[in-house]
Amino acid sequence: AVVLTACGAGFTTAAAGAGATEGAGAPEAERVFKVAFNQNADQPEAVALTRLGERLAERTDGRYSVEVYPNETLGAQKDTVELVQSGAVDLALVAGSLLENINADFVALNMPYVYDSQAHQEAVLNDPAITGDLYSSLEEQNIRVLGGFSAGVRSVYTSAHPIETPADLAGLKIRVMETDTNSRMMDLMGGVGTPMGQGEVYTAIQSGVIDGGENNESIYRNLKHDEVAPYYSYTNHLMIPDYLITNPATFDAMSEADRGVFLEELEAAYDESSRLTTEVMVSSQQAAEEAGAEFSSPDVEPFREAVAPLLDEKLTTPASRQLYDRTRAVAEQMAGRTEGDR
Ligand code: GCU
Repeated sequence: AVVLTACGAGFTTAAAGAGATEGAGAPEAERVFKVAFNQNADQPEAVALTRLGERLAERTDGRYSVEVYPNETLGAQKDTVELVQSGAVDLALVAGSLLENINADFVALNMPYVYDSQAHQEAVLNDPAITGDLYSSLEEQNIRVLGGFSAGVRSVYTSAHPIETPADLAGLKIRVMETDTNSRMMDLMGGVGTPMGQGEVYTAIQSGVIDGGENNESIYRNLKHDEVAPYYSYTNHLMIPDYLITNPATFDAMSEADRGVFLEELEAAYDESSRLTTEVMVSSQQAAEEAGAEFSSPDVEPFREAVAPLLDEKLTTPASRQLYDRTRAVAEQMAGRTEGDR
């Protein structure tokens, strides 16, 4: 890892061997923003933000950098939202589900099957015309959403057997993220939605408290869930974004120019994370398969139909309905463009 050390007017660049426990090679700076993250430091968003920190340190002459604290070292996602609100932690990556608990309109971007692809999701997330009002809606609660990352496509996995149809989920307790929406979704899919933080899932499956979970291939492999729940079935039901949140006072303490640099570099971080996300899903699937996990591809239509009632149940405000409709309109436009290319 490369470490930039602010010294006097300039910089020295040095190779650093250490630092594996606290993000990869966080650069020194006068002010190092702490980023709470619940996954390993080698996961795409952590890598992209660590590199953002390096570029930020360089471009602000060592005034600012970023250090990612992985593996829930600063707390589970639910706690880190509160730590950002209080200013104890500067930034956090948190799944959209958790923001839904603060402003229910976020639910529109967390709906099953709302996105057609990672490219579609990314086109929606950081288009201010679509998400601008939503992202600024949490200011009074001391949260500013700086942007959204795609965190892959989520599918169901169990310790019991492959899932071919919703009926195969009957009686199976499947861990979901901590929102009513996700519990209800899993119930509609045929299983029993069981909310808990990500860090508890492995042990809960191992001890038989739950029968499985639902996540992308990378988490499945990285957190070793494949060891205890070897049947991964591509239901492809969710693409929940991860949001980078900060405390408005923390962020606004930077000069306007430095904020501009941060936001520019964040754009580059989206691209990097996106590329790494695509890669890591493929390599994780392969690694899990080599280690003995079984992957299957059920017909997703029955699952899509099963969760359809969730739309009317959850899109209850004009703002959430509009967000959902705009998101779908982007999909139609993208599909139209692809048609036009043919
Ligand atoms: C994904 C996502 C995380 C989320 C996790 C979960 O890994 O990127 O933000 O916490 O799923 O299932 O809890």
